[in-house]
Amino acid sequence: MKNIYRPFEATVEDIIVETPAIKTFVIRPKESFVFKTGQFIELTLPGMGEAPFTPSSDPGIKDRFEVTVMNAGRVTFLLHELPKKYSLGVRGPYGKGYPLESFTGKDILIVGGGVGLAPLRSLLFSLFSEINKYNKVVLRYGARSPDDIVYRSAIPEWSKIDKVDIVLTVDAPAPGWKGNVGVVTTILNDLPVDLKNSAVIVCGPPVMMKFATMKLLGLGFPPENIYLSMEKNMSCGLGKCGHCRIGKFYICKDGPVFTYAELKDIYDIWD
Ligand SMILES: Cc1cc2nc3c(=O)[nH]c(=O)nc-3n(C[C@H](O)[C@H](O)[C@H](O)COP(=O)(O)OP(=O)(O)OC[C@H]3O[C@@H](n4cnc5c(N)ncnc54)[C@H](O)[C@@H]3O)c2cc1C
Ligand code: FES
Repeated sequence: MKNIYRPFEATVEDIIVETPAIKTFVIRPKESFVFKTGQFIELTLPGMGEAPFTPSSDPGIKDRFEVTVMNAGRVTFLLHELPKKYSLGVRGPYGKGYPLESFTGKDILIVGGGVGLAPLRSLLFSLFSEINKYNKVVLRYGARSPDDIVYRSAIPEWSKIDKVDIVLTVDAPAPGWKGNVGVVTTILNDLPVDLKNSAVIVCGPPVMMKFATMKLLGLGFPPENIYLSMEKNMSCGLGKCGHCRIGKFYICKDGPVFTYAELKDIYDIWD
């Protein structure tokens, strides 16, 4: 029987510098690995530690996957220092991903902030691959500055896809920036989506998720149509240790994707 705690071996095949603080790691596992968009993995640096990440690549690609990682602390710092060809461990995939089946026939609104675009890129690839199933895909994304926009060179290509509508914003502009200036909630007015026939997916830093969710509720989006990718410190990833508990839920096992309707009565969801 497969040991779900045992990491399997994988090699860092390529490293892409996305922003000053964010890199994408192209990882080739030594055994077959499939994931659903929105599920997460635990990446193990042997002898150094492990941390959870949500693959940012197209789940349709089976021989390798990508994680996009912000340098936020001890493990992510070490990860950012790795050379290509480095051997590491992978556990997972864990958790429940985005419920794509319930998005069919709807306007899909995706609201992202910072490195939160990583899991959302995997979701976008899944939506793009079956774009005719959805009415439209609307992305509203905010970063601190133009240099902090993740996948910046790919975004103009995504905008050319039929039924895809993208608006970006930055907190602090730089010379040459022609887009919106302000936090992501400033680009959530006049959304070209049908409030009553939409699925809204929000992913980013907790403070951004909080204010974006409040804004969306104020605009009239129903709590059960708002999907949040939740993050907490994790350990086992399997619903055994209790580290990731919020209210009655374990984020690793019951999430990491929840509707706001499921979480709204838990007082500390944004901490
Ligand atoms: C399901 C899930 C998916 C994730 N996907 C991604 C991803 O795709 N890309 C990415 O860059 N990051 C992602 N993260 C966050 C990432 O796991 C943390 O940044 C990482 O664990 C930090 O580890 P560290 O040892 O580098 O930092 P540490 O030295 O442990 O901590 C640095 C700081 O970050 C805080 N912190 C640590 N872990 C978390 C966490 N999970 N959530 C919130 N705060 C935390 C600590 O309290 C501390 O303040 C995800 C987290 C979860 C739970
Ligand atoms: S990380 Fe152990 S229960 Fe969720």
